[in-house]
Amino acid sequence: MAKSTLKSEVAPKGLNFRINQFNIGDKFATIFTVIEFPSIIGPGYLSNISAIPGAKVVVKHIPIELAVMQKAINKEVAELKEEYQKESDLTFKERIRNDYESLDNFVSMLASTQSKVFDFQLHIMVVADSQEELDHRKVQIKNYLTSLQMRAIPLMFEQEKVLKSMIPVFPKQDIEERMGIPVPAPTMAAMYPYVFDSIKDSGKGTLLGMDSSGGVVLFNQFLYQTKKEHNRNNANVIILGTSGSGKSTTAKLLLRGHIRNGYQIICIDPEGELESMAKTYGGSFVDLGKGGSYGMINPLEIVADTEEGDMDAKSGNSILTSALQSVRAFMKYYIPDIEDDVLQMFSEVLQETYKRFGIDYDTDFTKVKSENFPTFDDLYTTVKGKLISMPEATRERDVMERLELRVRPFINEARYYFNGHTTIASDSNFIVFSIKNLMNGDANTRNALFFNILKYAWSLSLDKRVNSVMYVDEAHVLLAGNNELGAEYLAQMQRRARKYNTGTIIITQQPTDFASPQVITQGKAIFDNASYYLVMGLKKQAVEDLAKLIDLNDAEKESIKSYSQGRGLFVCGSRRMIIDVVLTQDELDSFGGGGGL
Ligand SMILES: Nc1ncnc2c1ncn2[C@@H]1O[C@H](COP(=O)(O)OP(=O)(O)O)[C@@H](O)[C@H]1O
Ligand SMILES: [Mg+2]
Repeated sequence: MAKSTLKSEVAPKGLNFRINQFNIGDKFATIFTVIEFPSIIGPGYLSNISAIPGAKVVVKHIPIELAVMQKAINKEVAELKEEYQKESDLTFKERIRNDYESLDNFVSMLASTQSKVFDFQLHIMVVADSQEELDHRKVQIKNYLTSLQMRAIPLMFEQEKVLKSMIPVFPKQDIEERMGIPVPAPTMAAMYPYVFDSIKDSGKGTLLGMDSSGGVVLFNQFLYQTKKEHNRNNANVIILGTSGSGKSTTAKLLLRGHIRNGYQIICIDPEGELESMAKTYGGSFVDLGKGGSYGMINPLEIVADTEEGDMDAKSGNSILTSALQSVRAFMKYYIPDIEDDVLQMFSEVLQETYKRFGIDYDTDFTKVKSENFPTFDDLYTTVKGKLISMPEATRERDVMERLELRVRPFINEARYYFNGHTTIASDSNFIVFSIKNLMNGDANTRNALFFNILKYAWSLSLDKRVNSVMYVDEAHVLLAGNNELGAEYLAQMQRRARKYNTGTIIITQQPTDFASPQVITQGKAIFDNASYYLVMGLKKQAVEDLAKLIDLNDAEKESIKSYSQGRGLFVCGSRRMIIDVVLTQDELDSFGGGGGL
């Protein structure tokens, strides 16, 4: 290959202009000119465009003299007025009125701020190795720009002029007279990537770290309660990242802030990492991974998750229906291959057992105590009784026999985890559930127990008089085995949290589990119902899968792969920025050792 020198690049072998593209050396190129901009832009707006990989962006701002500006505006206003008079379609009329008004605002803004106005022109040059690649990239870029509410076209027959206008050695091109939009200086300044957008929430926030310009990030997870901000309508946070990227450490920082604010905190901490924090801050640490006397949560206990004043408030009907659904999810975790007919039979037997205990669709669940719910022993008794009453070898008996086999483990080897009344009593407002001793054990027991704790933990966060925080580490376990019912439960929690004044902190190292085809609907709901994501370092495949759940542009996808520990892309409502989570050594020590998961 011939050596490429500056001269050969500046004066390439071939430069051949066609209608809306050109060849430069052996490359195929086209220049888009942006002809429509959104009416409202956010800070750092241009960073989106300068981040398009492989595209070169030329931005020009040519000062406009005030007199010229005024003349142009007056002319435009006159034209709009005339158009308004003539227009008969009411929708168009309204649109014209809007334009007219925004122009009016623009003039008064200019007058009050004495701002300079610039003619703003934006070109995007795309270069590719083949025609095919060029066509492909053109479509990509067009779509991307559309998503940013911009319209760009290659100016026909004028690619040469546009190219010349982009290179400083050529005189002014006549096309420059015909394009661009007037933009006042403050708006222009706000467009630039290096105009950073910092997060300094009011109210009870946590000092999370620094943004890329060295400013501090003050984050209030419950901001929505005191201030309206775009796309920050709930207090749900999702933290993602590979093992060791700093997820739990960040979450602990948030937790500490919440403890100081006196919020109620409920944690599912599979690895037992919060033990030392629980000690330091007077919380209670419950290790359910040991089973039996260490604490029991009865999977058959029903949680009254219905808001008072709700449409069907206190209606035992909807509570029982959703309780049956979640017990079915529980069964699927413990027995992933349970047959549908057996699961259906289980549901019927369970209802019958509830009935024996005086629990049915009319029950007021707020009045039933833990010891008044049936346990697996009682359910097993129902199954046995049914079998006795079915002497003949019918299909029903066959299903019942298979159910008996499925239920038997609950009164045998799994009884330490699942068979008994709920014994946990905690009046602490910081409670940590761990299943540490089970994490490396039998996956089905672990997953079922994890879900069972989730259900119970949720019941503790339903007091709407206080702000509660529900922390779930290793949340991908809940999507294990593509358990749709379990995934739906988590999605429901995300949807309902706000009405109980609860905020969630969901942590996972495997976004992939949320994006698999069987559970992606629920996965999306889980993500859509979070106002905040902190994406720490992830591997390539995980990034691709995460992009199925949240919007990530190419530049972000690239950068996520190379984040060092403590660094993350913070999506905070409509804003996004890279932050570094910063802690002192003392803070790190007070959080105890990390689980590294
Ligand atoms: N922002 C940070 N600054 C300094 N050290 C950190 C930071 N984040 C994590 N660490 C260190 O790395 C260890 C593992 O981090 P951890 O938060 O447990 O990772 P993850 O939960 O993502 O697996 C922590 O114990 C801590 O020592
Ligand atoms: Mg962790």
